[in-house]
Amino acid sequence: MSMILDVRELVPKDRHSKIFDTYNKLNPGESFILVNDHEPKPLLYQFQAEHDGEFDWWPLEQGPQAWRVSVVKRETPDPDRTITEYFQTDHRRLDGIYERFQSAVHANRWDEAAADFREFSLGLKRHIRVEEEILFPVFEDKTGMHDAGPTFVMKMEHKEIQSLLDKILGSTDGHDAAGVSNGSSSLISILMDHNMKEEHILYPESDAFLSDSERKDVVKRSQAA
Ligand SMILES: [Fe+2]
Ligand SMILES: [Fe+2]
Repeated sequence: MSMILDVRELVPKDRHSKIFDTYNKLNPGESFILVNDHEPKPLLYQFQAEHDGEFDWWPLEQGPQAWRVSVVKRETPDPDRTITEYFQTDHRRLDGIYERFQSAVHANRWDEAAADFREFSLGLKRHIRVEEEILFPVFEDKTGMHDAGPTFVMKMEHKEIQSLLDKILGSTDGHDAAGVSNGSSSLISILMDHNMKEEHILYPESDAFLSDSERKDVVKRSQAA
């Protein structure tokens, strides 16, 4: 479990130094969860300026009362990270949250399951939004493939995935283990195939078509989304 750093109790002028202190003390591969009362955009920009390629930034909750972000010190820092590596890391991270959710359901720990599912759903919807608003338009511009290319198929699958998320949320809130299990089988089979196609075709092709600075720009804008 990551440690939690809740800076809401600190006076604003002390927050950034406390956060960077905490970050600097992490070992590679470790993370903490930052809790704040506003969207920590300026903080992200400071991380991007001072720790380029060294960290991951995954929002877990985006308002309206609290903002929570998982800040990870990457095991292998690399300022020139690829599209494939960045998005694949998010796929793996989401898989991990889903496993936690399923264990909670199996153990009948419904409050925990509901919290895990909300974190998963926010993360996956955000991942989809980042792909559709940031990555796919760049890919389509570079390749000229719009209506018949791989992004078209990916967007159709995103719709299916999103409707399954809503269905599983309903089952989770109704403490309906059989409903969760049905929804999960469909979700996992679509998602495995979808992620595989992205990781083996769409992301590597994006890496091949984009310049170093364009790849970097996609990652930076994705972190800020
Ligand atoms: Fe996708
Ligand atoms: Fe994806």
